[in-house]
Amino acid sequence: MHNYLLTSTLWLEALVKKEVQRQGYTITEVQDKAIYFEWEIEAIARMNLWSRFGNILYLVFEEQKNMRDFDTYFDTIYNLDWKKHVPSGYEVHIKATAIKSELWAPSTLQALAKKAIVKSLVGDNILREDSTKGTLEVRILMENNTLRVLLNTSGKWLHKRGYREMTGEAPIKENIAAALVILSQWKFREPLYDVFCGSGTIPIEAAMIAKNQAPGLTRSFAFQNWEWVPYDLLEKERKLAKGKEFSGEYTIYASDTDKRVLETAKRNAKFAWVEDCIRFQCMDYKNIIDKQIHGWLVSNPPYGERLEDFDIESIHKDMAQLFAKNKEIQWGVITSHEAFDSYSRAKYKKRKLYNGWELCYFYRKVS
Ligand SMILES: C[S@@+](CC[C@H](N)C(=O)[O-])C[C@H]1O[C@@H](n2cnc3c(N)ncnc32)[C@H](O)[C@@H]1O
Repeated sequence: MHNYLLTSTLWLEALVKKEVQRQGYTITEVQDKAIYFEWEIEAIARMNLWSRFGNILYLVFEEQKNMRDFDTYFDTIYNLDWKKHVPSGYEVHIKATAIKSELWAPSTLQALAKKAIVKSLVGDNILREDSTKGTLEVRILMENNTLRVLLNTSGKWLHKRGYREMTGEAPIKENIAAALVILSQWKFREPLYDVFCGSGTIPIEAAMIAKNQAPGLTRSFAFQNWEWVPYDLLEKERKLAKGKEFSGEYTIYASDTDKRVLETAKRNAKFAWVEDCIRFQCMDYKNIIDKQIHGWLVSNPPYGERLEDFDIESIHKDMAQLFAKNKEIQWGVITSHEAFDSYSRAKYKKRKLYNGWELCYFYRKVS
């Protein structure tokens, strides 16, 4: 049995916890931004492939309570089996964080951990590290005097699915887009509209959810190159995941006024294998204002500093007006433009969300 940590964006922990439980894994602890669970080695591949909302899947390599002095800290790390876990020639990259602990200085924790790992690997010799061969990312977490040594099994953050090499100007993170689709409570048989689709992230994530497509299917993971992990594990899990896909018919509309960004969106949808589910159109959102469309509208209108060319004020007023007039439509809008509160006459719920470092609000219709 192994222990794992799946990290989460703040306030998305409930969704991340659910996706771990959905795989049948045993949750051992939930904290802000952190879901701990245990399972066999299969989870290293399955959870990386299937996490729609998480950030990074770590393997908990060591956990020690009552870590209060540097000698014990050094010895604990030194005594771990690094020869088995560091692929030959790899660079070892260490990042330490300390919260409410007697050993509190991250730079000292980092330097000592590196010393201990190098000594464990090559004794007093020089460790030859070559970042072109690869990097093993080690996270040292000291929390309430408990030491955790974590190995990054994902590599790049899990929101980087692999389909979005190109983006528009202010793209939403893929895992946040997926969360919006779930939080909007979209019913897959109903039409879904994104009238500010940009590089297509919300429609693409919606299609992947509807098709039950594993979000990590087209990307690689750090653990693939670890010799102690069975070499065919990921391939087996990929095959299993492909077998779980649905092939229903979905009506997802994606539109934007920027032709160039629409081309990018189409390309992204193709890379994500969902282009057959999405109808792209170059269109101003104003075209839908007087139409009695029904279904769900989940969108990310221009807001904030990065898109200052647009008349953000009018766009938000218009959206609020549309929602007040069209009682048929279910809607969810992510924006950092708080004046939406004063425009909206429809009943809504508002929740905070971070898109990267940017604090946003997700407004969702309630009946
Ligand atoms: C915040 S971005 C959307 C980003 C998108 N969610 C993504 O992941 O790439 C807002 C988008 O609204 C589009 N936009 C601005 N004014 C518009 C209008 N009047 N009608 C339709 N789209 C518009 C911009 O071209 C931009 O792509």
